[in-house]
Amino acid sequence: MIRALREQDDPALLELLQRSLRFDTLTAPLLHEKVREDPGTSLVWDEGALLGFCHGVARGSIKLIAVHPEHRRRGIGSELLQAVERSLRARKLRAIESVPNYLVPGLDVRSTEAVLFFEKHGYEKFGECYNLCCELAGRDFARPTPAGFEVRRATAEDRPVVLEFLQQHFAPWQAEVEVMLGNRPISLHLAFSGPELLGFAGYDANNRGTGWFGPMGTSPEHRGAGLGGVLLSRCLQDFQAQGLERCTIPWVGPFRFYARACGAFIERVFWRYEKNLG
Ligand SMILES: CC(C)(COP(=O)(O)OP(=O)(O)OC[C@H]1O[C@@H](n2cnc3c(N)ncnc32)[C@H](O)[C@@H]1OP(=O)(O)O)[C@@H](O)C(=O)NCCC(=O)NCCS
Repeated sequence: MIRALREQDDPALLELLQRSLRFDTLTAPLLHEKVREDPGTSLVWDEGALLGFCHGVARGSIKLIAVHPEHRRRGIGSELLQAVERSLRARKLRAIESVPNYLVPGLDVRSTEAVLFFEKHGYEKFGECYNLCCELAGRDFARPTPAGFEVRRATAEDRPVVLEFLQQHFAPWQAEVEVMLGNRPISLHLAFSGPELLGFAGYDANNRGTGWFGPMGTSPEHRGAGLGGVLLSRCLQDFQAQGLERCTIPWVGPFRFYARACGAFIERVFWRYEKNLG
């Protein structure tokens, strides 16, 4: 039977997701971030044991869906999906991607059953994106700041100027940058010319503690001056200081910049799916 997720389900839910998601490693803190810190409609399939789970969020996404490997093709996934879709009453729904709090930015192209499942339920492919990997161990990312500019870690006092800059150039990333400003230490680096903010880069806004980079952005008129490379390198150095051996540069379209700046390579490919509910 279908019922709402309860607080005490978390250990069983973690076990279900660890068994079901072949390409992702879920931990208790990550599950908490994905589900408890981002509430929506969370339904489980309960037959004495937890056999299925679906989590959807009102901003228009089916964020997680999983059925125990030994109980697939019985219709459990379909019933859960349809119940969550009905409860969200959204006009459009994305599959899995759920910015700003998401596990992965779409369907991993290798997850054959999930791709077929979402296609059967009327989701249509509209694009693709990549998660890049950057190896960190034993590498030196330090690089000089171009003359005339200052690059430094953000402080709490920078918040108004950062929010104004985002409003002007990168409005969709406000929520992620707010998380960076709330982290300790603040996981955001800024590039200035005098008092003028020209660019930013940060990490740990999503999938915290896993080496999750981004977003980053330089204002259009200051691109090409080398600021992006310095901002990126500051974040990579922070990851090294955290003891990480590799990091993820997620949800990337054009990857030339990252390949050149830090030797990042394509690690995962995702298809993006959307369903129009009219
Ligand atoms: C995707 C998933 C939730 C589907 O759960 P399920 O309970 O097996 O789904 P259903 O039984 O309702 O299947 C519905 C339809 O999906 C398609 N489908 C699902 N698995 C399939 C498979 N292995 N091969 C072909 N079609 C498949 C079929 O069209 C199926 O209908 P049919 O059985 O009438 O042919 C399940 O395969 C799963 O947990 N996968 C791993 C988790 C995952 O990748 N989640 C997405 C990222 S969070």
